[in-house]
Amino acid sequence: MSSRSDFEKESPPGPGSALTKRDPDAFDERHRDCQFFPSYAVCLSLYVSFELSSSSQSPPKTASFGFRTVPEESKESLVKEVFDSVASSYDLMNDASSLGVHRLWKDDFVSRLRPGRKGPLKCIDVAGGTGDIALRILDYAREKHYDRETTVEVVDINGEMLKEGFKRFKQTMYHNTPQVSFHEANAQELPPTQFPDNHYDFYTVAFGIRNYTSIPAVLQEAHRILKPDGTFACLEFSKVNNPILSTLYEQYSFSIIPLLGTILAGDRNSYKYLVESIRRFPPQPEFPDMIREAGFKTGENVDGGAWTDLWGGIACIHTGVKI
Ligand SMILES: C[S@@+](CC[C@H](N)C(=O)[O-])C[C@H]1O[C@@H](n2cnc3c(N)ncnc32)[C@H](O)[C@@H]1O
Repeated sequence: MSSRSDFEKESPPGPGSALTKRDPDAFDERHRDCQFFPSYAVCLSLYVSFELSSSSQSPPKTASFGFRTVPEESKESLVKEVFDSVASSYDLMNDASSLGVHRLWKDDFVSRLRPGRKGPLKCIDVAGGTGDIALRILDYAREKHYDRETTVEVVDINGEMLKEGFKRFKQTMYHNTPQVSFHEANAQELPPTQFPDNHYDFYTVAFGIRNYTSIPAVLQEAHRILKPDGTFACLEFSKVNNPILSTLYEQYSFSIIPLLGTILAGDRNSYKYLVESIRRFPPQPEFPDMIREAGFKTGENVDGGAWTDLWGGIACIHTGVKI
């Protein structure tokens, strides 16, 4: 038997409609009709067809891919194409496009975390690509704290990026040790058998989070796999607040970086996407809300609290602690 609210759903919205007025007598009148005449079946079938047609008309889910809006289910493969294409030239392009500054930001990011300070840690570097952060974590722990037991699992959705990372680690003392391992997986749905609950001390993600289809889903996964009191740390391009710096940076990003992409990697579009995706990432005060919604504690919503701007906000570090 249909309930009152079902009939209310059935009524077309609009002023003057008997059912939108929610008049109990009008409702009873209609209900009586439905009970005593075959029109009950008509009422029911109209209701069912309305429900079916309204659900089939619900707008498709979308995601941003640079400045384009694409169906949610295609973003992952588009992002994969970008990183397949840039993998072999990724490190060179990073140095060229940032004039080496990305190295300073990454050093700063890792040294603020001080891995190894309280003893060996289990770390996971997600969207780890060619292993820049993993290498810095292991070097920092060893050089500053004589720690050769901290481990880093490098996770990336893209096998080509991981291959570059693996090659690179072959030249280091960490190769063939339990300190580093590489795993192809999607940050949004890390298999729990491989990445168990409450397992890691640090979750790092550098210049990766803006490429995800669903940032809330990734934050939930980060929360799941971190131990209580474990640290989530994200390094990402962000919003430049100084208007002069912002104008210069815009011009540099949209003209020089795609041009370098063409010259050094033969791929303008992928680098255009990377620049556009930066502009679509939530600005500094918005991202901590998402981190807190996933169940982390952050500092206050100011620079030096929930986030730390680097170079006027060109890049930014966000941290949260699992509660
Ligand atoms: C700009 S690179 C950053 C690599 C490295 N963290 C660094 O700082 O040099 C972004 C990486 O995110 C990875 N990625 C994108 N979507 C992902 C996902 N859903 N799960 C895991 N990794 C993803 C890409 O394959 C790529 O290697």
